[in-house]
Amino acid sequence: MKKKITILPGDGIGKEVTACGKKVLEQIAECFGHEFVFDYGQIGHEAIEATGTPLPDETLAKLKKSDAILFGAVGHPKYDNDPTLPVRPEQGLLKMRKELGLYANLRPIKLFDELLAASSIKPEILKGADILFFRELTGDVYFGERGRKNDNKTAYDTMIYSTYEVERIAHKAFKAAQTRRKKVTSVDKANVLESSRLWRAVVQEVAKQYPDVTVEHMFVDAAAMKLIQNPKSFDVVVTGNLFGDILTDEASQIAGSMGMLASASVGDTVGLYEPIHGSAHDITGKGIANPLASILSAALLLDISFGLQEEADTVIKAVERTLKEGYRTRDIADPSTAHEKILGTEVMGNVVSNQIRMIVSLPVEK
Ligand SMILES: NC(=O)c1ccc[n+]([C@@H]2O[C@H](COP(=O)([O-])OP(=O)(O)OC[C@H]3O[C@@H](n4cnc5c(N)ncnc54)[C@H](O)[C@@H]3O)[C@@H](O)[C@H]2O)c1
Repeated sequence: MKKKITILPGDGIGKEVTACGKKVLEQIAECFGHEFVFDYGQIGHEAIEATGTPLPDETLAKLKKSDAILFGAVGHPKYDNDPTLPVRPEQGLLKMRKELGLYANLRPIKLFDELLAASSIKPEILKGADILFFRELTGDVYFGERGRKNDNKTAYDTMIYSTYEVERIAHKAFKAAQTRRKKVTSVDKANVLESSRLWRAVVQEVAKQYPDVTVEHMFVDAAAMKLIQNPKSFDVVVTGNLFGDILTDEASQIAGSMGMLASASVGDTVGLYEPIHGSAHDITGKGIANPLASILSAALLLDISFGLQEEADTVIKAVERTLKEGYRTRDIADPSTAHEKILGTEVMGNVVSNQIRMIVSLPVEK
């Protein structure tokens, strides 16, 4: 199979982890006889510095011609410390999602058994948890009308959803549930918010087309509690942009670390694959970032955009074997991890890459 993949490393550890995700894709291409042609684009702080804009037209044009995108993260302390700066890295990300019509963000939350001890939640509560989040990505307070009034003393953001936006993501969630444990939990705040009342009514309507799937509706505050109390009770979760943003970070603790969680953003055209974490200024340049979220994002890319199920499973198996052999980055190490098995970003990527070669019975690279 011949495919064109654009790599958007972005800022901070985005560059470090994306190099590992790309290496794994190259390894898969070699081991399974595919041809992946890679190109690079600028986004975020790096793009602002180079061109004055967080998503240059040149990058967008490349993305539109790609078969899939592997993205790192955007962000820089300069903007975190000064929220009034008008041109910001995250605008590049929001514009990219809008321009490419990426309205559904899929976040699988699954704990590798080897990492049970790395989570802050008790192992008996966690073991077996397997949740697939569908976070709506192009609506909500992120894109509603916003502004200041009363001499700058009042600020507002508008939470807004239209029927078609809820319908299209609800269908994706119900279809996914049909291939899993056949349950959808729709999360909203319908006791207070009008946009949530519309959300709930639309999901109830869509649910009628999937009689084999059980649907439950949960308020976001209750869902936040239940995720930690009984994560195994969830199968597919569908929710809006803001609630999904918060709940998926909470759920990252089920997977042990932000460094373990991959995501896919899809719509009707090219798919974008990225770790859920940010640019992590606190560890940038130290070579200690966990690359597994980027590597698992590459597995999602192979599966969802290219339909290469065996290749995607091989990547996941390689990660599993790496963890089983005791290799850890610092964020997922526990007191029992042998000192020599705590690896830096690049070496961890190389170990996973070599595991792929071993799975397909090729000699490992030195
Ligand atoms: N999608 C994105 O591009 C995205 C998402 C979230 C935050 N951000 C940006 O990232 C910057 C930092 O934000 P933050 O600190 O709130 O979130 P973050 O996800 O960057 O980091 C949160 C914590 O998790 C740790 N962490 C994250 N990824 C890790 C990895 N792969 N391995 C090991 N540890 C990891 C970090 O060291 C930090 O302590 C900000 O500028 C923010 O705007 C970008």
